[in-house]
Amino acid sequence: MKKTTDENKRRDFLKKFGLSAVPFLLPAVSLNAMSFGETIEEAPAEKKSPVNFIYDGLPLDPDEYLAKLQEISKLKPIEPDFYGDGGATKQLEEEFAKLTGKEKAIYLPSGTMANQLAIKLLSGNNTKVIVPENSHVYRDEADAAQSVHGKRLIPVGEGKAYYELADLKNTIDYLNSNEVFKSGLGTVVIENPIRRTDGTFVPIDTIKEISNYCKTNNYKMHLDGARIHLAAAFSGISLSEYASYFDTVYISLYKYLNATGGAILCGDSKTIDLISHQIKILGGTVFQSWNNTAMALHYLNGIDQRWSQVVKTAQKLVSHLNKIEGVSIVSLQNGTNIYDLKLSNGIGLRNLAVYLYEHHNIWLGRANDKGIVKFTVNESLLTRDYNEILTAWKKGIEHARK
Ligand SMILES: Cc1ncc(COP(=O)(O)O)c(C=O)c1O
Repeated sequence: MKKTTDENKRRDFLKKFGLSAVPFLLPAVSLNAMSFGETIEEAPAEKKSPVNFIYDGLPLDPDEYLAKLQEISKLKPIEPDFYGDGGATKQLEEEFAKLTGKEKAIYLPSGTMANQLAIKLLSGNNTKVIVPENSHVYRDEADAAQSVHGKRLIPVGEGKAYYELADLKNTIDYLNSNEVFKSGLGTVVIENPIRRTDGTFVPIDTIKEISNYCKTNNYKMHLDGARIHLAAAFSGISLSEYASYFDTVYISLYKYLNATGGAILCGDSKTIDLISHQIKILGGTVFQSWNNTAMALHYLNGIDQRWSQVVKTAQKLVSHLNKIEGVSIVSLQNGTNIYDLKLSNGIGLRNLAVYLYEHHNIWLGRANDKGIVKFTVNESLLTRDYNEILTAWKKGIEHARK
């Protein structure tokens, strides 16, 4: 029975992290036959909470999620909201308004809805909206701006991580000189950090220049800041400073605040007060959201201190691991929590990942087609003694040498 459970767990792990599909894996190895033939000195891995190098946050499973909510409620009973009003939801909104320095904040069921409603309301009757070509708003929101809200998204910065002021000006000049029946430009959008470039951040000077230009020309600005705390932790620019350059800011509750979903939109009262009616029109008004907002509120408390510790710990770990022969971990330009990990041919990724998982409950993802693993750090790094993590990696790498 125990054997079957272990095999199932191993299979689940390989499936979950795509390791069974990596091209250079041992061909046709029977999972049942996979044995490392060694004594495990450490405590059984399943007793330890996972340290994951895959996600922005902690991938809490349903049992862990429920246990966490109970732990939170024991410290201070969670107060429910009623259709988004009161309780944990209101507390979270007030907290985010303070943190971003905006007048108000509101909970929405998804980031997509937050982005779309911000664009719609900020733009008013203007139909044009400038968006980064590689942004979630442009590529991943099912053309909602065009099909639902009557806005025309105009992409800028194709092939670049982010667009510069010059790119924005060129696009606006081009539109102004090449369209006969002019319609107005309402909103300019920036995504920061940028999901499609593995979380790299937009330099603050670029944001400042664009913001000044937009103010001068009376264009509104919206920030898709789904993971803005990560940009803040790695760039040293505070959340309130980032927010100060924008009219509205959206922040995700599930990327690193560990809720099961949800979003917050912050801005001035005039805009935010219009949102709940818009959510209702779209059918997004939910009876209660405290299950998400209480969790997010919990992880929001002390987030800057914890992430500054994550940054330091990650830098130390990367520097130690880079001293090991055959291991290369590099940070990206303007990078946040995602690094590129490459192993020499002499080290088997699959063996390393399976060893780390089985013996230490440390999770590592698959490689892309260039053989690069996106080594992603998050708060789970702080849940284990640093030396234990380093030792696990060192042992795993020696074990995985071919
Ligand atoms: C940068 C960015 N913006 C917006 C969203 C949309 O969030 P949601 O899934 O809550 O609609 C995501 C989700 O992946 C994202 O990465």
